[in-house]
Amino acid sequence: MASPGEEWSADANEVLEISLIVPGDEKPKEIVKFHPKFTYPIFGESETIYGYKGLKIRLQFAAHDLTPCLKVTWDKKVKAVGDVEPEDVEGKMKESLPDEYMTDTEQFDQRIQNFDYQSFTPPGQLFNTYSLDGKVYEIWQANLLNEACREILNNMQSLVLFFIEGASLLDVNDEPWANRRWDVYFLYEKTPESRYTLTGYATVYRYWHLPSSIATKGKEVTFSPEQIHSNYPDTQPDPLPCRARISQFLILPPYQGFGHGGLFYDNLISHLLSLPLVKEITVEDPSDAFEDLRNLRDLTRLRMDGTFTGLHLQALKPPANSSTPAWPYNAKRIKSKLAPKQFAQCVEMELLWKLN
Ligand code: ACO
Repeated sequence: MASPGEEWSADANEVLEISLIVPGDEKPKEIVKFHPKFTYPIFGESETIYGYKGLKIRLQFAAHDLTPCLKVTWDKKVKAVGDVEPEDVEGKMKESLPDEYMTDTEQFDQRIQNFDYQSFTPPGQLFNTYSLDGKVYEIWQANLLNEACREILNNMQSLVLFFIEGASLLDVNDEPWANRRWDVYFLYEKTPESRYTLTGYATVYRYWHLPSSIATKGKEVTFSPEQIHSNYPDTQPDPLPCRARISQFLILPPYQGFGHGGLFYDNLISHLLSLPLVKEITVEDPSDAFEDLRNLRDLTRLRMDGTFTGLHLQALKPPANSSTPAWPYNAKRIKSKLAPKQFAQCVEMELLWKLN
């Protein structure tokens, strides 16, 4: 039999239901529904909500711009006993929602039905398109200086907490010189009626990559962001050579396992490879699933683009009459833009594969 406390407790991951909403013939319709993977950043380690029977937390997002609408309902709420009070569910949920999140479902429905979808395109520039299972997907890139980009990112911050382990929220209201170092890549499904549904997204942070002429003169060189940025107007994305760090990468759960993660990653990397200012590509705290995906895609790419041509164990050692190995490891790594550890890992995987 459940203890009195258990009777009034609910599994936060079960009672929270997230959905994407699009316009329907007469009223809006839900196209996908899913549960969070984690809720501990909001409801604590036990991911349990105390104080209700029949609790339901419905978090709906407009599929195109992720405007959120939160509705919390319950059948019964326990009375406070001394200091022990029922959880303030909305109070906790709103910490990860934008200030102007909606709670009136009728108003939300009207907004969805009356929105002018023909005038909506994702923020920034379209840089690639692919087809999968008969549907068309577009990848858009925007800098965080772009207001529409900041709004969408702010709307979906809670998704980061629900699906990326240990993720922290990005301050979209930071100063322009800080914001312009963030790029956001949006993956959208585009329907035949030209309506957009968000499928995934990634954020990329530009760390400065100082030229070796500055970094190796034996002296410690430090610049404050203000010093560096005082030389450039705040209205443009950061113009300095950089190390691009993939910071958050998410495919929404209903779209996972169909190949989007791999295709989105490939597109993102080929875009970063084409940018002369990007000198190196790194990833912040990759999850195990992301690490697998990244290893497989990096290995496939390096095989296809000829990086591994001539690679075998002996080619890594300089021959007796020379100081340079036959396979120019460092030059290949720099050209690949991969960080030293990731490049070494790919080389090792390729050598093992060749040995077998
Ligand atoms: N049919 C069946 N299986 C397929 C198909 C298909 N058509 N296409 C791909 N797959 C398989 C792949 O082979 C792969 O299998 P594996 O797991 O055995 O290697 C698996 O599906 C996943 O590949 P994709 O579908 O390309 O990847 P997905 O779209 O699921 O994205 C990701 C992967 C990004 C990790 C996603 O699951 C996700 O967003 N997870 C939650 C958040 C997360 O962990 N993000 C990364 C955090 S790290 C960071 O942010 C820097």
